[in-house]
Amino acid sequence: MVHESSGESIKLLPNKGATANAPVLMTMTERPIPPRSGFNAERLISIGDLSDAEIGYLLDLAEYYAGFLRKATPAPQRLAGKTQINLFFEDSTRTNLSFELAGKKLGADVINVPIAASSVHKGESLIDTAQTLAAMSADVMIIRAKEDGLHDTLNETLDCIIVNGGAGASEHPTQALLDAATIRSEFGDVAGLTIAICGDSKHSRVAGSDAVLLTRLGAKVRFVGPAHLLPSSDQFPEVDRFDTLRDGLDGCDVAMGLRMQFERMKDGGKDAARGYFDTFGLTHETIKLAKPGARIMHPGPMNRGVEIDGALADDRERSLILRQVFYGVAIRMAALDALLTRGE
Ligand code: CP
Repeated sequence: MVHESSGESIKLLPNKGATANAPVLMTMTERPIPPRSGFNAERLISIGDLSDAEIGYLLDLAEYYAGFLRKATPAPQRLAGKTQINLFFEDSTRTNLSFELAGKKLGADVINVPIAASSVHKGESLIDTAQTLAAMSADVMIIRAKEDGLHDTLNETLDCIIVNGGAGASEHPTQALLDAATIRSEFGDVAGLTIAICGDSKHSRVAGSDAVLLTRLGAKVRFVGPAHLLPSSDQFPEVDRFDTLRDGLDGCDVAMGLRMQFERMKDGGKDAARGYFDTFGLTHETIKLAKPGARIMHPGPMNRGVEIDGALADDRERSLILRQVFYGVAIRMAALDALLTRGE
């Protein structure tokens, strides 16, 4: 079942007075209760796998776990005895390591598969590799792949819960959830905000998942960038498109930069970066086009001087980039807990 409409969750109080890298101090000390209809998602491959109530529950549960992370106190060992395998066929720093941390903080046995030293390099197929690991009694497998459809194929054959750690140019659902958690921690709610996703949204799995999730949560989402780096107009009909920063940032609460995904461009992207920073770079000067005090986000990895100026990325009054990393652990703790225990 694919879920589409907008979500409900507990609203946080606006984060007045907090600096961008000092996460909101109001903590959800009570463990949130699962949706009345239950937490029924049996996989997390796409944002469409989650109902509105499940999205709200995950955001609240992430805020609950964020409280343990801020205080550096041990979290309940909800996943003791469970086996989590991280299978990353494509490079990752944030997603891979935050899933590892999240599983360990909840007491799971966590294995990171060393792909570079694995039998993939003896010609074993990705599907055979995943099936072999699932046969080691994995309860959950976090998979990143260059291909768009691999997760659905594996979901039909593997006897464990599949979580998408990033798929081709299509979906990165836990990145979208952590982005929503970060925005909520800053503004109190996602609903009513205008969020500009700037840059290479055409090749970005983050842009796709963010557009769907943030729209469901009540934000107005825009894609901003040169026409050749925007998704085709039949994709994401709910998202407005702008081909200048002047129009695209006007009235925005958040500007999210995206890396140029050179590896997914047909010509290796040699021409895409030429002159790009001068026209579309996020800087202290160009962010003045957005609302006063607008916040900067970026899923990482960043290319400083290509899509974002380093001084803006490091500006602790403006930039939520490291807070996104912080919420990456909290949201992955929430997702693993909910998928493996159903909140019971
Ligand atoms: N945002 C993100 O997916 O980063 P990594 O590629 O480092 O995991």
